[in-house]
Amino acid sequence: MKVSVTDIIDTSKDLLVLGIFQEDEDMSYEFLNTLFAKELQEALGLGVFKKTYGEVYPTKFAGLGYRRVLVLALGSKDEMSLERVRRLMSKAVSYTKIYKFESFSMNILSLIENTGRFSPEELGRASAEGLYLSNYSFKKYMSIVPENPEKDIQTVTLTWIKDKDNFLKGFEEGKIIAECTNFAKDLVNEPPMLMTPAYMEKVAEEIAENKNIKLRVLDKKDLEEKGFGAILGVSKGSEHPPKLLILEYHGSEEGPVTAIVGKGITFDTGGYNIKPTGSMETMKCDMGGAAAVMAMIKAAAALGLKKKIIGVAPVCENAISGSAYKPGDILIAYNKKSIEVTNTDAEGRLILADALAYVEEKYKPDVIIDLATLTGACVVALGSSISGIVSTNKELQDALQKAGDVSYDRVWPLPLLEEYKDSMKGTISDLKNTAATGYGAGTITAAVFLQNFVTQQKWAHIDIAGPAFLLEGKDYLQKGATGAGVRLLSYYFLRN
Ligand code: BES
Ligand code: ZN
Ligand code: ZN
Repeated sequence: MKVSVTDIIDTSKDLLVLGIFQEDEDMSYEFLNTLFAKELQEALGLGVFKKTYGEVYPTKFAGLGYRRVLVLALGSKDEMSLERVRRLMSKAVSYTKIYKFESFSMNILSLIENTGRFSPEELGRASAEGLYLSNYSFKKYMSIVPENPEKDIQTVTLTWIKDKDNFLKGFEEGKIIAECTNFAKDLVNEPPMLMTPAYMEKVAEEIAENKNIKLRVLDKKDLEEKGFGAILGVSKGSEHPPKLLILEYHGSEEGPVTAIVGKGITFDTGGYNIKPTGSMETMKCDMGGAAAVMAMIKAAAALGLKKKIIGVAPVCENAISGSAYKPGDILIAYNKKSIEVTNTDAEGRLILADALAYVEEKYKPDVIIDLATLTGACVVALGSSISGIVSTNKELQDALQKAGDVSYDRVWPLPLLEEYKDSMKGTISDLKNTAATGYGAGTITAAVFLQNFVTQQKWAHIDIAGPAFLLEGKDYLQKGATGAGVRLLSYYFLRN
């Protein structure tokens, strides 16, 4: 997709996308009337056009050398937001595809710029995110060309941006963030027969081709020697040996070190506490945290962040076989704490326990952020539009929440309650992997469990179980993988 930012309206394109702010109704009508006169009035019907944000007026006629004109209602200027910019872009992309066109030209950004409410960089970043996130599809396994094949959009023209240099600076960043998010989507959308720990290692090797990135891999033998009892326990039932993948990003050797840790269960059957039909089908998404971490390391290098970030992904499969771990087994984690497995489906916290304890000991990071499709309870509490966050540090939590609000890859805080600590205590071991009955609060008790493996640092745990994988697409996010966490972390690192 070639995107150009020009001063003049480009007349060689398929679709012209125009916008009208509620406040500018008269002026815009006048403007549109001079361009399209009678046809537009007929198509829109004067007085019928309500201009409520989100309404779309696809006209049936050509004009100014365009094959079609699309008018988007922008709502009021006060309510315009960067998220609306992303969604407007996705509208333009989807209508271009509906019409089977290859290009569109849009003047809306200049109208938004004129409100003076957004910096050119912000506008550029959000526009690129909307564009590149919307233009994603995962069709590689389709042998039969669908009846109405979606054409890829070839060219996009954005007209009349005044401060082009700063707009383009933001646009480049947004493009990187969106492309890395799409990279994470690709990893999660791959079928689990292909997406194994060994495949993830190959992906990590490719990421580490960048000169600022170093890959370290602990394979099964290393994990056995070093005492990663929890990861080894979870992976016992699988024919794919586990891996601990560590991608070190060296953008600077000064300043704080941040570790990002992602749950990498390549498929979660539930183990002997097997998931029922209806709960297992989407469980290839259970490495969404690991995918986000790897995509973030890729993004850090592409954005040229002046930071040291350690990306850690414990990767294995929670499968069933004669050798699988069982309820009642006791695993010894990397920090020597013993854990009784009370439910083999609470496997994510087990592999994270080992990974968190290891990263704390080995790298002594100042900040640890983990991302995991950890609990169904989080989906019940918050649904699929927002992730849960539980943190030991208010400042870190606030910074992540702010990054989430601006990127719209949002997080909502849940408390790390003292009172719930006892819920995860063992009776014949130090810990159990599920809470005693009667506690509820599954997302919090999971975090309480993880807290036993991070003792020193500022820590935030982000439960992406809801937003990581959608059953239905919406705006710039498609059905299936969303790359949840990549935009959140990218904005966090750009701002902190
Ligand atoms: N991978 C699941 C959590 C999940 C659920 C992710 C829905 C995405 C969508 C996790 O391993 C799991 O099964 N957790 C259990 C924990 C329980 C046994 C304490 C759950 O949430 O039911
Ligand atoms: Zn599970
Ligand atoms: Zn899981």
